[in-house]
Amino acid sequence: LHVAVLMGGWANERPVSLMSGEGVAKALEERGHRVTRIDMDRTVAARIAEAAPDVVFNALHGVPGEDGTVQGMLDLMGVPYTHSGLATSVIAIDKQLTKQALVPHGVPMPGGRIVKSADLFERDPLPRPYVLKPVNEGSSVGVAIVTEGGNYGHPIAPDAKGPWQDFAELLAEPYIKGREMTSAVVDFADGPRALAVTELKPKSGFYDFDAKYTDGMTDHICPAEIPENIRDLCLEIALKAHKLLGCRGTSRTDFRWDEEQGEEGLFVLETNTQPGMTPLSLVPEQARHAGMDYGELVETIIAAALR
Ligand code: DAL
Ligand code: MG
Repeated sequence: LHVAVLMGGWANERPVSLMSGEGVAKALEERGHRVTRIDMDRTVAARIAEAAPDVVFNALHGVPGEDGTVQGMLDLMGVPYTHSGLATSVIAIDKQLTKQALVPHGVPMPGGRIVKSADLFERDPLPRPYVLKPVNEGSSVGVAIVTEGGNYGHPIAPDAKGPWQDFAELLAEPYIKGREMTSAVVDFADGPRALAVTELKPKSGFYDFDAKYTDGMTDHICPAEIPENIRDLCLEIALKAHKLLGCRGTSRTDFRWDEEQGEEGLFVLETNTQPGMTPLSLVPEQARHAGMDYGELVETIIAAALR
């Protein structure tokens, strides 16, 4: 196959996407495919048309590679591409829209509200502790946890560094104490399957950008050491979210679990339609656990795009 690997772009997650893209490109070359690496800029449509690949592997993260924009462009061009399509991407990139799609179907997610960043200095939008996050970023870009005694990283003040400086609006959600977990779903020829549950244990603070991409800063426990009923619930919910949102190829659903509350304490934070493919990323790790190496995972995602 001739595969164009689309990566980079101008999102905050550009460096992550370059790592994902390079990993994918190398694996495809090792497996004998022809690869064109394309760093996305505003001329990308012309460059894809010129390369004329059999399929585009979308290794972009964030806007506009994960929000439907690039998907719509490729639809219009008639080029097959990996991962979710336009409508799914539009919904899943937006953490608030995702709730509107999933919660009515019984997927537990924390209640939240959109607040104007400027209003944060007047009053707290929710009782503390709560989390502030942009609706459409990834890798914990722009996330702050606001606590009683002092905030994680960012005191709330107009002159203090925090996401309110970069984003006019933020999503405020109650902070769910407890454990951080994730579950990947992959589309196989006979249908989608949830691979495993991983628990993420950052060595300090929370599972933020540095903890995600610095080797040694977070322990990945795969399979997670959790009760069987919680594991099964995570797998079931990840698969349900994948299907309800109409994801393709792969998705990864992130959870918080307050174990004191048992099954009632399990909440979905979001479903990622363009999950990371870096050396420290979770989908490749769960694939390995399920007996599939990185190259096979890439091929499986491509096969779903060509079905
Ligand atoms: N947003 C990052 C790439 C992830 O979900 O893995
Ligand atoms: Mg995310």
